[in-house]
Amino acid sequence: MTPISSPTDEIIEQAAHWLGSGKLVIIPTETVYGLAANAFDPDAVSKIFFTKGRPANNPLIVHIASIDRLSQVAATPLPSSIERQIDSVSDLWPGPLTVVLPRSAKIPDIVTAGQSTVAIRVPSHPVALKLLARCDFPIAAPSANRSNYVSPTRAAHCEHAFEGGIEMIIDGGECEIGVESTIVSLEENGPRLLRPGGVTAEQLARRFSMSLDQFTRSCDEKHALLEAPGMMPAHYSPRTPIQIYSESSSHLYPPSRIGRILFRPVRTADSIRYAKVETLSSDGNLSDVAKNLFAAIRRMDDAGLDLILIDECEREGVGRAIMDRLDRATSSYPCIGNTQAIGE
Ligand code: TXA
Ligand code: MG
Repeated sequence: MTPISSPTDEIIEQAAHWLGSGKLVIIPTETVYGLAANAFDPDAVSKIFFTKGRPANNPLIVHIASIDRLSQVAATPLPSSIERQIDSVSDLWPGPLTVVLPRSAKIPDIVTAGQSTVAIRVPSHPVALKLLARCDFPIAAPSANRSNYVSPTRAAHCEHAFEGGIEMIIDGGECEIGVESTIVSLEENGPRLLRPGGVTAEQLARRFSMSLDQFTRSCDEKHALLEAPGMMPAHYSPRTPIQIYSESSSHLYPPSRIGRILFRPVRTADSIRYAKVETLSSDGNLSDVAKNLFAAIRRMDDAGLDLILIDECEREGVGRAIMDRLDRATSSYPCIGNTQAIGE
């Protein structure tokens, strides 16, 4: 169990000290909590991989205090076409946007899994920013969950997540965004969306003067998934089977303990009697859904259910990130309902 600390100046100072001496600390960001280490210290970064059970071929995101520190982590000079792309999105920093750029030689191989690029972001959470400003090194931080489990959006989610090796968890409250950052690779041929997230594809396409279609197509291409190995299909999975709810769900399941996650309040007309119901938004607002999504899935997962049925939404705005995470969470359990329906 890792102690949770309030984000006082002394605690932030202590965290900077731990990070500077090669230790791991869990930090809040506006998207999800991160398992942090000094990105310039390969031994410290190797502890992240070990602690998370993360495959060594899955590179980490490096966090910096402001765009002024970009040259600490990215190659200099960058090609002017890439500089222009950075300029068009720089107003989104600090915020839930990660850019993949040619890397600086100062970034150890272990951070980028040997790739020639590095993923970089400036988080907007005030505690993360304060800590980053206090450190004279960038911070590598994946989401603070065991590999492939649901990302943490509350300090308490991290308390029992690992078997040790972490000095402290800084409590920054509930993560405002609730899904991870959007990842865009900035290349001489133009930008490519690698992961939908807190900044919407619509916002980015507009800034790159691209059509939404043109911009999001790059996310569907197989090579994008291979380049961001964290985008493997079965990810974000709770232990409990989880499926998207459909009208026909009522007919599929025999009596069993089923949990239901709603995106907005509804009077349930289906015949399943649910063991647990969670409603993520009072009016179907997708920002609320994103903010509450992972916490609700975790609560359901802890409730000893046989199955979780969850709503779906349009793949637009932050809905694109929500459905991306649900596609991955549900992909491990694609045919439970059907199997039971045909009596196997
Ligand atoms: O919101 C977030 O991005 C959170 C907070 C803590 O900042 N972090 C996060 O990290 O989601 P993680 O490790 O869970 O996901 C990072 C993703 C992975 O899919 C990884 O493959 C991809 O970023 N990635 C990292 N470096 C990359 C690179 N050089 N090229 C392509 N993808 C990269
Ligand atoms: Mg993650």
